[in-house]
Amino acid sequence: METASPSRLLEDQHRRIDQGLQDIIDGAGSLARLSESLALLCLHLYAEEEILFPPLEASGLTMPVFVMKREHGQMWPLVQDLTAACGSAGPVDTLQNDCRELLQLLQIHNPKEEQILYAAADRLAADPDHGSLAQALEAARLPHGWACAMAPR
Ligand SMILES: [Fe+2]
Ligand SMILES: [Fe+2]
Repeated sequence: METASPSRLLEDQHRRIDQGLQDIIDGAGSLARLSESLALLCLHLYAEEEILFPPLEASGLTMPVFVMKREHGQMWPLVQDLTAACGSAGPVDTLQNDCRELLQLLQIHNPKEEQILYAAADRLAADPDHGSLAQALEAARLPHGWACAMAPR
């Protein structure tokens, strides 16, 4: 099977993550589904920071990458809190505010990332030297205990 372009792969993840949060906000979600969305978000941030961003930085996009990493760091405490809440199995509607806040951060972050960095990633992946970028993104597995580079300490 042919691997999707970096943008298709990562934009599809954006949509799935957003939907999981939106379902909770709408009162239609479950802890299990939210937990899946949060796990996908962590994997997504890992794949971006460890696989996607280094070659983009090397190609000169240091400032846009820095801004994206800073925004990941701003999301991180909410992602951690929501993940912990999923584990403690309390009432799902108490998570609506945190989900709304996280979704708002993503709605500011994702369009910039898609327009600038994913477009650049697709151009890079068209270069034979970086032809395996999409496959590497698809094969990413989150290491246990990973935290994003600008997570608050
Ligand atoms: Fe991102
Ligand atoms: Fe992203």
